[in-house]
Amino acid sequence: MEGLSFRSLRSDDFNEVQHVCRLLFPLNYSDEWYRDITSSSKYYTRAGIDNLSRIIALIIVEIKSKNDCQREDYGLLYDDLSDQNVELAYVLSLGVIPDYRRCGIASFLLTSLIRFLKQERLDCKAVYLHVLTSNIPAINFYEYHKFQLFKYLPQYYLISNQSADGYCYVCYINGGKGPIFIRITYPFRHLLINAITVHLQMSGVIVKLTNY
Ligand SMILES: CC(C)(COP(=O)(O)OP(=O)(O)OC[C@H]1O[C@@H](n2cnc3c(N)ncnc32)[C@H](O)[C@@H]1OP(=O)(O)O)[C@@H](O)C(=O)NCCC(=O)NCCS
Repeated sequence: MEGLSFRSLRSDDFNEVQHVCRLLFPLNYSDEWYRDITSSSKYYTRAGIDNLSRIIALIIVEIKSKNDCQREDYGLLYDDLSDQNVELAYVLSLGVIPDYRRCGIASFLLTSLIRFLKQERLDCKAVYLHVLTSNIPAINFYEYHKFQLFKYLPQYYLISNQSADGYCYVCYINGGKGPIFIRITYPFRHLLINAITVHLQMSGVIVKLTNY
């Protein structure tokens, strides 16, 4: 990571962030979304900058009330946490441009986020995200960081007019706890993931298993 620096996104990053996201992610985001993430303080953002001042990595996170999470993500937290102030951190995007991968940059961005949440946002009880079931590098990455599979989301994405399945992954922090089923199934998560993957393969959904 020599020669890299890290900072928050700013509004003059709009074009570059759009360019990097188009390179890294298969999803189309609106101009409004790019304006929002580069200017609104409601997002936690960090960008990795190389010695030519180019953005080579980024993380974009929304920290929101547990009541504001999407319907499919309800139940991420153990119900007894009735405290209305409880928050969740949703990782909207995390990516590193190909030439800089496997150098620990995404790990640095993710661990910096978690350190920030543990120091500054004690009400935030979990970090979660969605990932394509076919995105094996990202799944490996999040499992390496001890994220747990929370849910399989069939046809969650629409990419180039084709639906694609997703997973929701979660990591509990600041004393947060998952629902009981996740605590029971966690030791068997690989069996669970393998069973889903085999099912998807048999139904022809995953043609290419590995793209790393
Ligand atoms: C997933 C991604 C963010 C990982 O970034 P990275 O900077 O290369 O990750 P790190 O170097 O911090 O990797 C940490 C560990 O994660 C695992 N990992 C990361 N990439 C992997 C890959 N391609 N294959 C297998 N394991 C991988 C490894 O255990 C790795 O440790 P190691 O290199 O010592 O073996 C990067 O591949 C990427 O930008 N992909 C495209 C965008 C994307 O899919 N983002 C996630 C969607 S939410």
